[in-house]
Amino acid sequence: MRGRYGRFATASAIALSLCAVTGAAVQQAPNASPVYGVRLPAGYRDWQVVSVAHEAGGLNDIRVILGNDVAMRAYRTGKRLFPDGTMLARIAWKLVPSARNDAVFGKPQSFVAGDPTNVQILLKDATKFPATEGWGYGQFENGRANPDQGLIRTCYPCHARLPASEDLVFTAYAR
Ligand code: HEC
Repeated sequence: MRGRYGRFATASAIALSLCAVTGAAVQQAPNASPVYGVRLPAGYRDWQVVSVAHEAGGLNDIRVILGNDVAMRAYRTGKRLFPDGTMLARIAWKLVPSARNDAVFGKPQSFVAGDPTNVQILLKDATKFPATEGWGYGQFENGRANPDQGLIRTCYPCHARLPASEDLVFTAYAR
């Protein structure tokens, strides 16, 4: 138990020092995103796969989009808007060539996940987030909430560029 409390105290101290650095509200919950207070959900790594994607250019990553049970039911039944409790996670890694796999294939063709970049979370709660059409946003690096308010404020305006029928979610269910 002492260990658990010790870790909590450390996390709180880090959150408070981040607040001090960014000038964010001090009452921000430990390890929650600024603006929305979205946390990294426990067990998100065990959620089901909605789809995968690759961003080229500067990002040069490979990413998987995962959904919790509420999200998967909505996707499979075609329900829009997504109901409250929907959570989506986007995990990304640098896309790197695999010399080991290429040696087996005998030619350069294999690209795999390298270092992790960040995890982005979408949480639907129409009561909590009325100003952003029901969606809260968070970004996490190494399990820590990114404290940059300016960054987190870019999420909604870009997702809101989708037609209303998409309910601010880009990723379609990949069969
Ligand atoms: C400039 C536009 C833009 C901004 C800013 C942006 N996104 Fe996205 N987001 C996208 C696009 C396009 C996709 C789908 C393609 C992909 O997965 O890369 C996406 C996908 C996602 C997904 C997977 C679910 C979905 O909607 O497809 C999550 C989760 C997500 N973004 C969270 C965030 C968070 C959190 C932020 C802010 C830190 C953010 N996004 C900022 C454009 C944006």
